[in-house]
Amino acid sequence: MTDTIVLKDVRKDFGDQQVIKGVSFAAANGETTVIIGGSGAGKTTLLRMIVALEKPTSGQILIDNEDIVPLKPDQLNRIRTKFGMVYQYAALLDSSTVLENVAFPLVEHTKLSKKEIRDRVLEKLKILGLDDGVEKKFPSELSGGMRKRVGLARALMLEPKILVYDEPTSGLDPLTSRLVDDLIDEMRERFDITSIVISHDIASCFRIAHQAILLIRGKVVAIGPPDELANGENEEAREFIKMSGVDVSGVSRVKKT
Ligand SMILES: Nc1ncnc2c1ncn2[C@@H]1O[C@H](COP(=O)(O)OP(=O)(O)OP(=O)(O)O)[C@@H](O)[C@H]1O
Ligand SMILES: [Mg+2]
Repeated sequence: MTDTIVLKDVRKDFGDQQVIKGVSFAAANGETTVIIGGSGAGKTTLLRMIVALEKPTSGQILIDNEDIVPLKPDQLNRIRTKFGMVYQYAALLDSSTVLENVAFPLVEHTKLSKKEIRDRVLEKLKILGLDDGVEKKFPSELSGGMRKRVGLARALMLEPKILVYDEPTSGLDPLTSRLVDDLIDEMRERFDITSIVISHDIASCFRIAHQAILLIRGKVVAIGPPDELANGENEEAREFIKMSGVDVSGVSRVKKT
C-alpha cells in the first residue's frame, strides 16, 4: 500500500511558541486518519500545513511523494487543488445560495459553462442526499447537518484525492454525527479518497478511523488503530479515551476494509 501523505519531523513555531514539536506519520492511500487531542494541541495548525496553507518551520511534508515544504506559491496552488477541505461550522457564505456556495471551486478553478457548473453541483447535492430545490436556499435556511453536507459537496467539487475535515461532527446531535461519519466513509469508499479528520468525538474516531493519532501539546503521543489506543500499552492514550466517557467497546468502524 502506498502512502499519500507522509510527515517527517515537522515543526512549527509561532514567534517563540513551539506549537508543533517534531511530528511524523504516514497516511495510507484510501484510508482515514483521525487526529484527536485536547484544545490547543496544534491539530488545526497541523492540518493547515498539510493542505499547504501554512509553512512548517522545518521538516518534510510529502504529498504523493513530493515534498511540498520548499515549493513556491504558484506551485503550492497546484498542490492545493489535490485537497478538498471541510471546515468547522461548514464555513458557507451566508449571502450566497447553496448553488453559489457549492459552485465556488468550479468558478474559481475551471472554465466550465454556467449550465455545466449547475449540472455538476446538482449531481453532487444528489449524491449527498440533499433534495431537489435545496440549491436555491440560503445557508441560514438549512439545519446543521444539511450545512455539513453542503460543505462536503463543495469540498468534493474538484474531485480531490484527499479530503481533510476539521471537526466535522462538532455541534451536531449524536444521530446526525453518525450520518456525517457514514458520509465520510461512503465518500472514501466511492471515490477512493484518503481522509484526514480532526475530531473531539471519540465515538466518531472509532467509527471511521483506520489510524488514530493522539496529539498532545504539539507531539504525537500515540498512533495506531483506535482499538489499540484504547486497550494498548500507552497509558496517556488509554486515559484520554477513558476521559471522553464514551464506551468504545460498542463502537466499531462503519465498514471494515
Ligand atoms: N497564526 C497563528 N499565530 C500565532 N499562534 C497561533 C496561530 N495559529 C495557532 N496558533 C497557536 O497554536 C496553538 C495551537 O492552535 P491550534 O488551532 O492548532 O489548536 P487545536 O488543536 O486546533 O485546538 P482546538 O481543538 O481548540 O481547535 C495555540 O496556542 C494557538 O494560539
Ligand atoms: Mg482546531
